[in-house]
Amino acid sequence: MQRLGSSPHRMYPGHFWGSLMKIVDLNHDEGTIHQVAALLMKGFKDHWPNAWPDLDAALDEVRDSLGTGRISCIAIDDDRRVLGWIGGIREYSGNAWELHPLVVHPDHQGKRIGRALVADLEMRVVEQGGVTIFLGTDDEDGMTSIANVDLYPNVWEHIAGIKNLRRHPYEFYQKQGYVIVGVIPDANGVGKPDILMAKRMVV
Ligand SMILES: CC(C)(COP(=O)(O)OP(=O)(O)OC[C@H]1O[C@@H](n2cnc3c(N)ncnc32)[C@H](O)[C@@H]1OP(=O)(O)O)[C@@H](O)C(=O)NCCC(=O)NCCS
Repeated sequence: MQRLGSSPHRMYPGHFWGSLMKIVDLNHDEGTIHQVAALLMKGFKDHWPNAWPDLDAALDEVRDSLGTGRISCIAIDDDRRVLGWIGGIREYSGNAWELHPLVVHPDHQGKRIGRALVADLEMRVVEQGGVTIFLGTDDEDGMTSIANVDLYPNVWEHIAGIKNLRRHPYEFYQKQGYVIVGVIPDANGVGKPDILMAKRMVV
């Protein structure tokens, strides 16, 4: 089997620009790194414009994902066009890994690429002995009922009654088995929380 990066590619059925999707490790190929950085900016610009404000910031994020204690995987089509990217960061002595970041090409969202990338990361974390995956998903843009309100002092009441007003991705993660485990109120400015989620990888 062809190898790209440190592990064999994983094939997924589906039609993406008329070809099959593969998930492979990101490597140091500069052309691919630039594609991933451009995708990162494009995928986040509407709701999280400050996340990666310019190409240099996005390139730094992508290059950092190739370091020690990292998992970095891309979904590509037959022509090596990047459809999506997921990263994992080893934390808590390897017991818990942070899922960061995740992005799917806007032209190809809703085709289960995100779900496949999350499943792939989970498999990789379990292979490395991880017990938990956690993540933070910001609401900077009033996409949920817990933005633009004062969450104090009854923070958990707000979390328990959370509503998805404009397709915030916390619900995507819930569909993959992730649970809201907390919130950082005002993480991105007043009324702009970070929603914390986690999933246990072992039974
Ligand atoms: C969020 C994102 C990664 C989802 O990827 P995707 O490939 O479009 O999602 P999938 O097709 O795998 O969806 C899987 C399920 O989640 C649901 N889903 C996907 N995005 C959703 C959203 N924003 N809100 C609610 N549900 C969502 C789908 O409807 C699908 O549901 P089903 O299993 O009942 O059919 C993608 O939309 C994206 O890159 N968004 C911009 C960047 C972003 O939000 N990243 C995460 C920030 S932490």
